[in-house]
Amino acid sequence: MKKQKSQKVTKNKKERFAEMKAFPNVIEPEFQEIFNKNYRLRGQWNKEFFKNNHPIVLELGCGKGEYTVNLARHFPLQNFIGIDIKGARMWKGAKTALEENIPNAGFLRTRIDFITSFFDKDEVKEIWVTFPDPQPKKARKRLTSTKFLAYYQKFMQNKGVIHLKTDHTLVYQYTLKIVQENELELIHAERDIHGTNKSELEKVRNIQTFYEKQFVEQNKKIKYLSFKLNINQDLKEPPDE
Ligand SMILES: C[S@@+](CC[C@H](N)C(=O)[O-])C[C@H]1O[C@@H](n2cnc3c(N)ncnc32)[C@H](O)[C@@H]1O
Repeated sequence: MKKQKSQKVTKNKKERFAEMKAFPNVIEPEFQEIFNKNYRLRGQWNKEFFKNNHPIVLELGCGKGEYTVNLARHFPLQNFIGIDIKGARMWKGAKTALEENIPNAGFLRTRIDFITSFFDKDEVKEIWVTFPDPQPKKARKRLTSTKFLAYYQKFMQNKGVIHLKTDHTLVYQYTLKIVQENELELIHAERDIHGTNKSELEKVRNIQTFYEKQFVEQNKKIKYLSFKLNINQDLKEPPDE
């Protein structure tokens, strides 16, 4: 019985992968297209992919792409790109964007570790990091570590905003410490986003990701942090706890 179930999941995944190959809103580069070189869309996302001049916002570790799709619906004059390595999850967001004809939502399937191959200086205005893997033992693998922030500095506009949503106290505190130690400009630091009714945090409350819904059901508090990234600063990693 169990075996049958896993076979079905594999088949569905395969079908999704196959279908996604033909999606015009999904980019799935081959390794040789980015290894030791820049991807062809680097610096060209607006001209070649979105065909407009609007600001670009990324969702890192987008999973099913709830922020990418919902923000794209609400802000038609901005372009959104969801990035994740897991194609079967991304299929959902990409399919929704196609079915609803949302032209300003795109998806990129890659490891975020290669992100500097994809975006050029000043190309990105904002980043959302939604429920990243917490990496409890490997701080530098966290998507808000100074290693990753140094990657983002290479292609973000100066003082571009980074948003973090997480259920994980460690990730929240760690990122807050980076902000404080490096004297970055903090915009919001909320420990319980669904326990506050601040109107300026409405979009943070109203768009819930797949993982977020599960955490909320488990009564976990959802934390949110946003800050401005100074692109001309050597960032210090906080000391290990
Ligand atoms: C906990 S899930 C959250 C997914 C989604 N944001 C949500 O909230 O439902 C973390 C996601 O980050 C992706 N991810 C983690 N590290 C990554 C990396 N280095 N490169 C690309 N994707 C990564 C995983 O594949 C996974 O889909």
